[in-house]
Amino acid sequence: MEKKTFFITTPIYYPSDKLHIGHAYCTVATDAIARYKRLCGYDVMFLTGTDEHGQKIEEKARAAGITPQEFVDRIVEGEKGVKDLWKLMNISNDRFIRTTDDYHVLSVQRIFKKMYEKGDIYKGAYKGKYCTPCESFWTESQLEDGKCPDCGGPVHDAEEEAYFFRLSKYAKPVQELLETGTFLTPPSRVNEMINNFIKPGLEDLCVSRTSFSWGIPVDFDPGHVVYVWVDALFNYCTALGFLNDKYDDFDRYWPADVHIVGKEIVRFHSIIWPALLMSMDLPLPKRVYGHGWLVIDGGKMSKSKGNVVDPYLLADKFGVDALRFFLLRTFPFGSDGNFSNELLISTINTDLANDLGNLVSRTTAMVEKYFGGTLPAEREAGPADDELVGMIKAVRGKYAAQMEEFQLHTALEEVFRLIQRANKYIDETAPWVLAKDEGKKARLASVMYNLLEALRVSLILLSPFIPESCEKAFAQIGADEASRSWDSAAVYGSLPASVTVRKGETLFPRVDMAKALEELAKAEAKPAAPKAPPVLPNVTIDEFAKCDMRVCKVLSCEAVKKSEKLLKFSLDDGSGTPRQILSGIHKFYEPEDLVGKTVVAILNLPTRKMMGLESNGMLLSAVRETDGKEELNLIMLDDSVPAGAQLC
Ligand code: ME8
Repeated sequence: MEKKTFFITTPIYYPSDKLHIGHAYCTVATDAIARYKRLCGYDVMFLTGTDEHGQKIEEKARAAGITPQEFVDRIVEGEKGVKDLWKLMNISNDRFIRTTDDYHVLSVQRIFKKMYEKGDIYKGAYKGKYCTPCESFWTESQLEDGKCPDCGGPVHDAEEEAYFFRLSKYAKPVQELLETGTFLTPPSRVNEMINNFIKPGLEDLCVSRTSFSWGIPVDFDPGHVVYVWVDALFNYCTALGFLNDKYDDFDRYWPADVHIVGKEIVRFHSIIWPALLMSMDLPLPKRVYGHGWLVIDGGKMSKSKGNVVDPYLLADKFGVDALRFFLLRTFPFGSDGNFSNELLISTINTDLANDLGNLVSRTTAMVEKYFGGTLPAEREAGPADDELVGMIKAVRGKYAAQMEEFQLHTALEEVFRLIQRANKYIDETAPWVLAKDEGKKARLASVMYNLLEALRVSLILLSPFIPESCEKAFAQIGADEASRSWDSAAVYGSLPASVTVRKGETLFPRVDMAKALEELAKAEAKPAAPKAPPVLPNVTIDEFAKCDMRVCKVLSCEAVKKSEKLLKFSLDDGSGTPRQILSGIHKFYEPEDLVGKTVVAILNLPTRKMMGLESNGMLLSAVRETDGKEELNLIMLDDSVPAGAQLC
């Protein structure tokens, strides 16, 4: 019989900055669900990726002096980039889509055209408040004191030709979809969507832009790029091969079983996304799950607030599994969770070191000590067994009920109830007392076997959350492949009667809270600014005097075509003839800001050609590297200093 499929997705991440633990939260949760479904025997497609277009990326790339493609490549593929972080966090995605991938670009163009031909996308005018220097439209509510929120400058009414999607046409079917109660969960999010967005009236959505170019071009109307959310949402289909030849899994996996998304993007996934799919006559995803945020002191983590937590630092200190576990055990998935290092350490110490780690090490140590590692086959039941064995048999069902509803923390609670019960069972049965009595060997073997079975079933159920540690622990308790399966998790007695254990390394060492907090505080503190480079060897005054450095006035300045870095200056150097100098400082200055400025240049350098243009000299700047970032300030003098004045 063919396996049942399960298609699960994370949002595709926006690579504007390095990802933080908040991003990891969503992906780790999705990973645990995907692993759980694989464990249950599903043919799982777990998709993640990156959402790489848009004005913000274009601007960031310009500021960094590189192309947008170079910029996103660096953050997606580079060291400690998105892919690197998922490797670190042991994410088991089956596919990774980048919206700059050719096949995706092609599919989105085809999709856009189809909706246009159907009449669901039409050409209109985008009206808003426009800030000319920022080349940005703003809505009334985005303005700050009636001014541009970016530069604080004046804005004026303007309109721009744009394409619109008939979102209003789909308001009724989308509302009906939301009201089914099964499409969007948790239920609290449904009312929010209906009351805040649908009831006030859905307006048609502007789905193209002309003010920037870093996007998927509308192929039948040059100058327009596709709105980034339309581009991004369709990743869920294009990554399966919808309207492209790259993959051929669309019929197999679509519709998605669940899109896991953060609460602030529920609106896009539960209103705009179904409407777009309805327009394309495609089946709708079965479910959208809106999870909460990891917050710090009540506020969302964000780079701009400077409160992001570095997953590399925490994984290095406590281990990846401990970090994965903490994220999913501590906070109800649908609500916000307040992150703190104290909470992380206490969860590691309580659940992983005390409860689980201890149970593994005590049990394997006792089997080694009392039986040389291999249990005898003889058994003798005792009074405390029934409750423990009953829990072993029941836990899988309870856990699965929670997992099916993505209640990851309560699913873990069920497992830890069993682990805690097993630890209590050790105290109740006192194996160290039984061990002193030769006549109690069979009873002691039963106690050990029950503990190993409690562990075995717990480990199966924990394996989607802490896969590496479970592998190690399975080896320690002597569980072979068959006794690690989902089916065997519902059965008591899968381990062979004469099982052999192998005590191994401590799975989760206890963390010294005070010491670890101090070390984290040190590591999280910003490194001191690096010292300036050492002074170079002396030159003689005669050697120095050979450099002809002059004050110049900037007559004109423009960006060199096809160059990200170069600016072309025409300078008054006092000689009466304008002097052309090229300088690679575009990432620090806009040309129009430099016209009329008084700068300093070395004039007697040999002529150089750059991008086919001559440069006769070099502008002087002050350069410094801080936090791995280059800072540059062009040397500018008071405007009263005349052109041609010599520096000495
Ligand atoms: O929204 N806690 O990308 P994104 C929990 N590109 N989750 C967090 C978080 C935090 N502190 N910070 C971020 C986008 N996230 C779009 C998605 S999908 C077609 C396009 C979550 O990189 C956030 O809630 O800004 C979101 O679900 C995900 O990270 C990606 O955010």
